[in-house]
Amino acid sequence: MVAKKFDVLWKLEEHTKAKHDILVQYMKAWLPIMSRISNQILYIDAFAGPGEYLNGEPGSPVHFLETIKHHNANLNCQINCLFIEKDPKKHHHLQSITSRYNDLPNVKIRTVCGSCGDIITKVLKNFENRNKSMPTFAFLDPFSYVEPTMDMVKRIMKFPKCEVLINFMYEEANRFLKVDHQAKYYDSVFGTSEWRNICKISDSKIRKQQLHDLYLNQLKNLANINYVRSFEMKNKKNTTKYYLFFGTNSYSGLKKMKEAMWKVDPLSGYTYSDYTDKNQLTLFKPEPDYYQLKRQLVDNFKGKTVPIEKIENFIVVNTPFRETHFKKPILREMEKSNPPEIQVFTKNKKRRPGQYPRGTIIKFI
Ligand SMILES: C[S@@+](CC[C@H](N)C(=O)[O-])C[C@H]1O[C@@H](n2cnc3c(N)ncnc32)[C@H](O)[C@@H]1O
Repeated sequence: MVAKKFDVLWKLEEHTKAKHDILVQYMKAWLPIMSRISNQILYIDAFAGPGEYLNGEPGSPVHFLETIKHHNANLNCQINCLFIEKDPKKHHHLQSITSRYNDLPNVKIRTVCGSCGDIITKVLKNFENRNKSMPTFAFLDPFSYVEPTMDMVKRIMKFPKCEVLINFMYEEANRFLKVDHQAKYYDSVFGTSEWRNICKISDSKIRKQQLHDLYLNQLKNLANINYVRSFEMKNKKNTTKYYLFFGTNSYSGLKKMKEAMWKVDPLSGYTYSDYTDKNQLTLFKPEPDYYQLKRQLVDNFKGKTVPIEKIENFIVVNTPFRETHFKKPILREMEKSNPPEIQVFTKNKKRRPGQYPRGTIIKFI
């Protein structure tokens, strides 16, 4: 494996900020929801890093602690933080940074120097032995493609109310895909050897899509995760660096994560590039591609009569779009068009186009 020449701290890149933004946005929602349903919660940052970047910018553990510190909600459960870092020097740095937060009420910080595989195994064994777990969010953010294994993800997701956010190091994996002695790593990261056939594909776009889809399907089918959503991070050359994969068994968790992703990418909700001219985005008000969503709705529902809830579920689960994207921008226009493209059935006689409360039935003409 190619060793990176970082000592303890390294430069913060734009796409890393975007990754932290997604994490923080989601944690703002996760913390109060989980603290309402449980008196103990666990946040694992399994590849925690040194806690800060070269110019003093916060690393992911600090982002999490700052989110707790500045949260408006009353977080009155015990928040257990487990920060794991393998490199002793980075771990030492992390410890000194996180110790600044030791006086946060209800927060228990544990930093461990070691390999996350071993440490997470101990945590999960403890859950198993007590036949009891707690809502857990595991951020798995490695440098390289050798971890986390699919088996580890599966074991985490076996417990109720556990979620994962995984950095799938596509660029690294793609670069080393043909190196034979690395094969064992990919087999355990993917939980299958099917990737070997994919890496024979010469078209890099197709290869990328298929590796992405294989990983996503393995998370769903092997790790048994109900909902999986990905977010693509591109570097300054606009090529894919990694994908963040979010896995949850909670429909509302999925909605909250998509909200976080759309905050970072207001155009499509699934990608960020260091290459994009951010001034362009401020000149033009970013708008989702409603045309594309309408096409997906029509393709899926044409000729069918369906409850509004089913349409929302389709959008949230099967498309990158959000539940906020379809009523006014799409259904209202379809209802008002001449001739109408949908028919609306509702008990509410005062309803106006654009309003589709629960219980509304839509017929796609
Ligand atoms: C991408 S960096 C983490 C960055 C950090 N999550 C952030 O956003 O600020 C990955 C870190 O994982 C550490 N690491 C690598 N293998 C590990 C393992 N098996 N267990 C725990 N930490 C590991 C590396 O030393 C490195 O500091």
